[in-house]
Amino acid sequence: MRVVRTIADLRALLRPLREEGKRIGFVPTMGFLHEGHGALIRQSAARCDATVVSIFVNPTQFGPAEDMANYPRDLERDQNLCLEADASVLFLPEVSEIYPTGFQTHVEPGRLAEPLCGRFRPGHFRGVATVVAKLFNMVQPDLAFFGQKDFQQTVVIRRMARDLNLPVDVVVVPTIREADGLALSSRNTYLDEDARRRALCLSEGLLAAKAAFDAGERSAVKLLEIARSPLAGVDSVQYLELVDVQNLEPIQGPVDRTAALCVAAYVGSTRLIDNVVLAPSALDASLNMSLSPQSA
Ligand code: PAF
Repeated sequence: MRVVRTIADLRALLRPLREEGKRIGFVPTMGFLHEGHGALIRQSAARCDATVVSIFVNPTQFGPAEDMANYPRDLERDQNLCLEADASVLFLPEVSEIYPTGFQTHVEPGRLAEPLCGRFRPGHFRGVATVVAKLFNMVQPDLAFFGQKDFQQTVVIRRMARDLNLPVDVVVVPTIREADGLALSSRNTYLDEDARRRALCLSEGLLAAKAAFDAGERSAVKLLEIARSPLAGVDSVQYLELVDVQNLEPIQGPVDRTAALCVAAYVGSTRLIDNVVLAPSALDASLNMSLSPQSA
């Protein structure tokens, strides 16, 4: 695995591969990698000839009250995970490489960035869309891999790639969970024993609602009730919503199209998000089918 820190070195490394017609996969990350990232890298390695992983803690997606300086970091562990998962290139740019002095051009996502997390993290998806567009331009991947756990992010990025005619297929990989259901997240490292136990309320509710949906329940009200009842165990719920996966608008009546049940909640001072996809037809169960560019 090659480690590069500048855009020039990255381009020099990838140019011959592209010229040989090799398929390039890309996994953008902010580091402190876990098996969820491992799954993205492995899937890329299985489907592409070379896999680029970037680690860049992106300042423009953190709000003023969000503590970027304390975002967890462990480069040595990250490098080992990338190696084990078969990454070919690790891109580790400095902030000044991505945002040189004078930087002032951003990607402004539209309505898809407004609901759910967008309501509570103003500017977050503008920062995500901007850095991902820039990284796509640097890597020029054929395929880029994102985790379903950041569901709204996948919808915003897919839309952005389509709107800006970026020639990349955005692949969404299902959330990896601990045996007890907790979705893997770099933020889980902030949870002490009590908080970790209470964090399970999120997945408990979502997975119970999904089980009810799979058993035939189609009422949005009932599914939301099922997902809400264990949430008494968290400190505060930012949102629990059932939305259409295409436009992120709330579903009120029966769930007759592919929906995402999404939650964001605080356990202590740690903000956690999670979601499950509810697909009336098994054919739509993969987000890659239901969010296909043609239907977006
Ligand atoms: O999901 C993340 O880790 C980040 O939002 C991303 C996509 C790497 C952009 O900074």
